[in-house]
Amino acid sequence: MYNAFFGFTQNPFNMSPDPAFLFRSAQHEEALANLIYGVQSRKGFIVLTGEVGTGKTTMLECLRDFLNSQQIAFASLFNSRLTVDQFFEMLSYDLDLRCNRRSKTEVLLTLNSILLDRASAGRTTVLIVDEAHNLDWDVLEEIRLLGNLENRRGKMLQIILAGQQELDRKLEAPEFRQLKQRIALRCALKGFDREETAAYINSRMARAGLRDQAVFSPALLDEIQFRSQGIPRLINSICDNLLLTAFAMETRKATLEMLDEVTADMRLEYPKDGAREAHFPATPPFPERALGETAVSRVRRL
Ligand SMILES: Nc1ncnc2c1ncn2[C@@H]1O[C@H](COP(=O)(O)OP(=O)(O)OP(=O)(O)O)[C@@H](O)[C@H]1O
Ligand SMILES: [Mg+2]
Repeated sequence: MYNAFFGFTQNPFNMSPDPAFLFRSAQHEEALANLIYGVQSRKGFIVLTGEVGTGKTTMLECLRDFLNSQQIAFASLFNSRLTVDQFFEMLSYDLDLRCNRRSKTEVLLTLNSILLDRASAGRTTVLIVDEAHNLDWDVLEEIRLLGNLENRRGKMLQIILAGQQELDRKLEAPEFRQLKQRIALRCALKGFDREETAAYINSRMARAGLRDQAVFSPALLDEIQFRSQGIPRLINSICDNLLLTAFAMETRKATLEMLDEVTADMRLEYPKDGAREAHFPATPPFPERALGETAVSRVRRL
């Protein structure tokens, strides 16, 4: 809607986990390197956790691109609310197993022979499960058993479990002890800090065709980081709404008032801590907005 107005060739803050817009922050770089290393060195289980909207699915998309480029076969389950039967059926579809896909025994036999063939040809196979915090215990147990399949060169099936922080907590439970012991690599994602948030926003806008953007001032970028806690999905949503508001007001500069309106519309909750207020002296006071007063003055000061 606003692309032509700002000079974008495409939407900079699309909500889809598109690797074309990947911002290589240190933590995302490390997570992706871990996923790739884990697969290549046949580590078996790899766990990727993180707050909602921090980029887990985006990392998995990047991994899938890598696996495709290396012609490594993989199954990718994105709906983790499955029964054991559905799990095996989905697995057999994804790996294109030629057998009665409704029979767990047949699926297991076929999978085993395919994994053996591939392993003896020096190739590995990957199972990616997103939203793994939703997996039922009995499905997780089947996954653990699949992770046991190995030959002398290492695990034959590399299993990547990605999910929200409940996944970490779930794996701490006594009944998951065996699985927890088998996790060879773990990585975690969190929100961006101020510098990363600014670099992330600038990189997305540059990727969409607007280099050296002046829509968001440095102080506004800081405020976006604070209100979003650096969570990429929230940053995208805030920036998209800000651009839309600025467009509607026919200006190419977003303001703190617009940010107040956008975050109120989003019902965004963020800490309104006293320490932060003290950090930025509030002049002049705007009593109706406890948080806004310091931030307004900061933006106006620039
Ligand atoms: N490193 C990154 N580079 C570019 N965009 C990113 C990055 N990390 C996250 N995003 C963007 O943030 C949004 C949320 O990312 P994603 O869906 O991958 O998060 P998630 O951790 O899987 O969330 P959920 O917990 O809800 O499944 C997406 O629009 C994605 O494009
Ligand atoms: Mg996700």
